[in-house]
Amino acid sequence: MNLIKSPAGGSLSSKRTISLLIFACAATRWLHAEPPASTPVPVVQIQADKVTAKMPPTFYGLMTEEINYSYEGGLYGELIRNRAFKADAIQEIIKPEDYDPAKQYPVKFPANAAPKFWNAVGSAKLVLDTGNPLNAALNVSLKLDVSDATKSSPAGIANGGYWGIPVQPNTRYHVSLYAKSDGRFSGPLTVAIQSNDGKTVFASAEISGLTGDWKKFDATLRTENLKPSKENQFTLTTTSSGTIWLQQVSLKPPTFKDRPNGNRTDISQLLAEAQPKFLRFPGGNYVEGDYFNERFNWKETIGPVEQRPGHRSCWGYWSTDGFGLPEFLGWCQDLGMEPVLAVFAGYTLRHDYIPAGPKLEPYVQEALEEIEYVTGDASTKWGAQRIKDGYPQPFKLRYVEIGNEDGADKSHSYQGRFAQFYDAIKAKYPNLQCIDTCGEIYWGGFKAKSERTPDVIDEHFYKSEEDMESQSFMYDSRDRATKTKIFVGEWATRVGSPTPNMAGALGDAAWMCCLERNADIVLMHCYAPLFVNVSDLGAGHSMQWASDLIGYDALTSYGSPSYYAQKIFSLHTGDEVLATAAQNLPTYTWQPPAKKKNGVEQPRPAERSAKSLFYSATRDRATGKIIVKIVNRADAPQEVKIEISGVKTIAAQGTTTVLKAANRNETNSLNDPQHVVPVVEPASGLGTNFTRTFPPCSITILELDAK
Ligand code: AHR
Repeated sequence: MNLIKSPAGGSLSSKRTISLLIFACAATRWLHAEPPASTPVPVVQIQADKVTAKMPPTFYGLMTEEINYSYEGGLYGELIRNRAFKADAIQEIIKPEDYDPAKQYPVKFPANAAPKFWNAVGSAKLVLDTGNPLNAALNVSLKLDVSDATKSSPAGIANGGYWGIPVQPNTRYHVSLYAKSDGRFSGPLTVAIQSNDGKTVFASAEISGLTGDWKKFDATLRTENLKPSKENQFTLTTTSSGTIWLQQVSLKPPTFKDRPNGNRTDISQLLAEAQPKFLRFPGGNYVEGDYFNERFNWKETIGPVEQRPGHRSCWGYWSTDGFGLPEFLGWCQDLGMEPVLAVFAGYTLRHDYIPAGPKLEPYVQEALEEIEYVTGDASTKWGAQRIKDGYPQPFKLRYVEIGNEDGADKSHSYQGRFAQFYDAIKAKYPNLQCIDTCGEIYWGGFKAKSERTPDVIDEHFYKSEEDMESQSFMYDSRDRATKTKIFVGEWATRVGSPTPNMAGALGDAAWMCCLERNADIVLMHCYAPLFVNVSDLGAGHSMQWASDLIGYDALTSYGSPSYYAQKIFSLHTGDEVLATAAQNLPTYTWQPPAKKKNGVEQPRPAERSAKSLFYSATRDRATGKIIVKIVNRADAPQEVKIEISGVKTIAAQGTTTVLKAANRNETNSLNDPQHVVPVVEPASGLGTNFTRTFPPCSITILELDAK
């Protein structure tokens, strides 16, 4: 097996292999889930007159990359799968020494093949044709031959979308496509959305005027009052004979905030409701790619979508790059998020790399130009290009991440590479903060130390619930002497598939308490992965990595319990962290699962103890409210004494927001999207000194009116 970098806390085998494993936590044994009855009541003390940190305004954010059909088949509004007919592309491997980053490398296609995800309707014959490309970027087209179509038996092509074409009532869908004919055929073509059984046509329109030259055509499909469904397909048919070529066949629903080439509304809405403050993009592994010619080559993801060649992503499927750098920025704009830009740093997932020195320089320049694209004004080359792409205002950018998970860099070249990027970025953009991707955690036996002191280090954690809870006090004892801040750029409690269950949310909430308490050194953080298309978890591989925050199919979407934990923490961040202490915190004992070494099962590790109660306290300065978060991961109610000093009074009445479940396996799904959701209720019996019982398996946010 080709070994690639392992995720934080994972083994050394392929990340993708790890993602498909049954999680270790399934085999974890809880030995004593509850404290004995005689355990003293835990006490959480809050010093309201002692602020330990200003909460960074961009504390809660999102991490994103093309994985699990996140954009294509997810957030990106496009409904047609394989619209550019390049999903069959044969992308050869190019080694770094043979690779010219300024060159576009055309992909090849299998001979006499029909394009994936397209089917013939009637007697039509379809084949990939490299002899009639639309342009150099889209160097293939779909050749459609129709010889004996009739009115009662039209012929053409059909596309089933990403596990279905959704239809909603009274909605306008925009069809666009490039077409040309053999010169004899001028149309008409009928484009339609119809049920898979062909019995119902929900909307249709005609396109005519085809000639021997490529031309763009647009049409609108309007649905009427109908029941939403996804068991449908898009069809393009004709009743006349002829040969036509097609490219960039697109079907778009209305998008969030009506952005052209924009995003799906329901998923965008879920994100907007959690009020994320930043977006880390475009990866993750996706920024690196398996090989140099499969990295996120940002220059090939800008400009008109039909000029973008697309590329094979490291998660195993083709990306049209219709969702490219401008679209990441549009997403930031739509949700009021600050971009946190990750740049390719000369190292790929398959360990190809270019060491620091003159050969790395083109990639450093590429990163500087990318920064200019994001931040430059009209007087700059790349700022002007961004304006041309539809974004007149420069974006505020404070953080640039150099590479991804380079603590796993087997070449040990990161120190030099980071220094070269750091020096060039600081020389041109002295105010930008550079993020080092090694962190201080253990990466498969190698701990890189940069030659420059990074402004920020990125640390990643994918853990079982017990592991996450066990480490939920770790930053409290982190060295405070260094200037370098921490960005927890990927983390998740990986319990539950495809999306996490309540156990995941409990581990997450315990961890977020840790992050909040330590906001003096933790600058920002984001859960990963963000999205999963849950349509086909079997052979169709709509998921490459389990336990993702938000799930969806072609029609609907839902937030996992972890999503709701994120959301309630994010909406109750506060802006000052208050000093806290605790006594008598209850614990539980658990035994990690046995691991295998070279295929041989190792002795089961010794029992461990972890706390089962977690807390953090912040203040919202505008309202003066003290926000107390308490996580009770136990399966039984837990009494907690809360003592608040440094305030005159706390009103007896306040508000609670509680996310809880009858047991930790409870979860949300497409069929039951609101099974575990937060409930907001008035709370009484509060004061500077009060005892409250927190429900089993619960995350509680108390808002206290302080004077
Ligand atoms: O989030 C999934 C993957 O985990 C990311 O692409 C990578 O950075 C990490 O190993």
